[in-house]
Amino acid sequence: MALAAGFCDVSLDATAVTVNGVKTFKTVAAMQRTALGWRQAGLRIGFVPTMGFLHDGHMSLVREARRRVGATGRVVLSIYVNPTQFAPTEDLAKYPRDLKRDYALCREEGVDAVFLPSDAAMYPGKAGGLYSTYVVEERLTQGMEGVSRPTHFRGVTTVVAKLFNCVLPDVAVFGAKDWQQAAVIRRMSTDLNFPLKVIVAPTRREPDGLAMSSRNTYLGPEERSQALVLSESIAACRRAVAKGPAPAADLKKAVARLVKTRPAARLDYVEFFHPETLEPTREVRRGTQMALAVFVGKTRLIDNGRL
Ligand code: PAJ
Repeated sequence: MALAAGFCDVSLDATAVTVNGVKTFKTVAAMQRTALGWRQAGLRIGFVPTMGFLHDGHMSLVREARRRVGATGRVVLSIYVNPTQFAPTEDLAKYPRDLKRDYALCREEGVDAVFLPSDAAMYPGKAGGLYSTYVVEERLTQGMEGVSRPTHFRGVTTVVAKLFNCVLPDVAVFGAKDWQQAAVIRRMSTDLNFPLKVIVAPTRREPDGLAMSSRNTYLGPEERSQALVLSESIAACRRAVAKGPAPAADLKKAVARLVKTRPAARLDYVEFFHPETLEPTREVRRGTQMALAVFVGKTRLIDNGRL
């Protein structure tokens, strides 16, 4: 990832560069060496993995990481648009980027270090066909995002496992916005014995209810208003089950009808399931988790909530 020309005030020390006032590691070796040093000095490391184009959803995870490691701990945020979690048809090339803004937010929020690896640093040998190790979770990835984006989670678990091995965190913080992703990562972390705690922090929303997302920037003004159908669908289902249990099939039809009232919106999936096992439920009641994916124009948005 090239830094925008003219924006970096770069100063070098042995392992880190300082970019706009924030310590930055661009190689795996530099990040690992520093993280090992922190751990040996008894400092706790809190980690927030991101793909950049930061918003307050991301920054709320930074604040949670800080709460967990305390003022003396180290909070690391990674910015890496991970190619292996995008299908060839998806938005990898045009995924939004604004490192200058990202750095301003990191400085404001007191992030101690940014891990900013290149593709060559993260996937050495990939261009030459040498890279050949992936991490696959086989159960929680079967539904929802795993159906609509079949290669997505293999990329996510692989890169997150790699990032854990680079940053060596005591605590890693993920957003409830990506409910299935958080469940998959928690499972992976347990199954592979990563010596760290996975924390899931609540979804941050715009005042009108739209879940914050880097992809919201793709929406035109009319699409932006029609995108409210995601949070409205969750609210409608919450109202329905407040009156008593309801068949999932009925609620799915109701959500499909609601989405159809917005001409720019097309429902990809809506699912009702157990919040931890992600097992789909036929009878929806209070405490059931709901998730949906909706195309608004060309932009695919996801949201979820506890009913
Ligand atoms: P990204 O979409 O940048 O999200 C990074 C983290 O921010 C994820 O844990 C996500 O759930 C969280 N997040 C996004 N929007 C949020 C919101 N509105 N409220 C709270 N948290 C929110 O998710 C990824 O990147 C990638 O898959 C990654 C885990 C970095 C692996 O490449």
